[in-house]
Amino acid sequence: MSESAAKELEEAASRYAAEAIKADSQGSYGTAINLYQKAISTMMRLVQLYPEYKLNQLYLQRAMTYQERIKSLQSARGVPQQDGPQAEVRKTNVAEGPMVETLKASYDDLVVKEKPDVRIDEVVGLEDAKRALKEAIIFPYKRPDLFPLGWPRGILLYGPPGCGKTMLAAATAAEIDGYFMTVDAASIMSKWLGEAERNVSKLFNTARKLTDQGQPALIFIDEVDSLLGVRNQEVGGEIRVRNQFLKEMDGVMDKGHKRPLYVLAATNKPWQLDTPFLRRFEKRIYVSLPDTAARKFMFEQYTKPLRLDTAVSLTELGRIAENYSGSDIKDICQSVQLRVVSELFEAGGALDPSTKTRQITMADFKEVFRARKPSVPREALKAFITWSENYKAL
Ligand SMILES: Nc1ncnc2c1ncn2[C@@H]1O[C@H](COP(=O)(O)OP(=O)(O)O)[C@@H](O)[C@H]1O
Ligand SMILES: [Mg+2]
Repeated sequence: MSESAAKELEEAASRYAAEAIKADSQGSYGTAINLYQKAISTMMRLVQLYPEYKLNQLYLQRAMTYQERIKSLQSARGVPQQDGPQAEVRKTNVAEGPMVETLKASYDDLVVKEKPDVRIDEVVGLEDAKRALKEAIIFPYKRPDLFPLGWPRGILLYGPPGCGKTMLAAATAAEIDGYFMTVDAASIMSKWLGEAERNVSKLFNTARKLTDQGQPALIFIDEVDSLLGVRNQEVGGEIRVRNQFLKEMDGVMDKGHKRPLYVLAATNKPWQLDTPFLRRFEKRIYVSLPDTAARKFMFEQYTKPLRLDTAVSLTELGRIAENYSGSDIKDICQSVQLRVVSELFEAGGALDPSTKTRQITMADFKEVFRARKPSVPREALKAFITWSENYKAL
């Protein structure tokens, strides 16, 4: 599935929802109903188009909540309208009803506390990034006594999408036997609505409490640029969230240099981060597109479970895939397999479990390459390189 198309629908849905809630709280119920309906239909489209999307469960729940809100607004509007103060009172009751509360995603919905199941050596290439993460997180975690001068606190992973930032963060968390809290900043901003500031502080408080008890904790903030994002429902909201975040980062950096609390953040748009923000990230690590050797290795990994014709050259594939990201390469391998699986189904043989797909040929790969361009445009790459020259800090 295409992450970016899903993101677009997601943004549209959250925009409609935010506008609906605003109209609702201002008493413009007709507009609110209309907007809730748009939010619902956008979310349903998202769910139908991308049945695997990670936030679908949340969307279905929200769609139901909005539906109920529409019902209750409609029945309230069904009551003959009266002029005068009584009508005002009724309006207020509807607006401040418990529904508006439940429309906000709770903290627990968006902070995932789980142990990821990915090892650091499964991340292909990116040796600089792996070393920096070891030095800044894994070593200090394992032997804090060897770091009398402390260790770098905020760590920022930046680079084009699909190159392993999220994967690296998960692998780092898996290395340290501590508490891993991951939040998607885009979700913080779009779904916590007015609560983002409070929830940012709750996030850091929770982590501090754990470390007070001697437990290490790693906070991972994905898409951290959204914290300063321009798009937002709440005017001025993102400034408060940003300031809260800066304050929390200072807390992590100043006091208690011995506290085993680590903050890792990732972004595809580092140039959206301002100087005060960057200053809180002592290490800034470029997670780049894979080089030829890394690409070959990725093809090796992803085609391991597939049936390949002996003439398929992984070296050649690695060479052809210039400018393709790790995520693109995985997609290509999936698509190639899909070709032979489709053929088997079309031929009517797939229902017999003993049948096999035919071997994948170099021609299959070339077909797929033709239809699938690299997801990172050249100009974007240049922007990363320029930014790196100025801000990289290993
Ligand atoms: N360096 C890499 N090594 C192995 N797999 C990779 C690498 N980069 C990307 N991938 C594959 O692409 C997927 C998406 O990568 P991800 O870490 O989400 O990228 P990012 O966070 O940089 O956008 C990963 O789950 C993995 O399957
Ligand atoms: Mg990511």
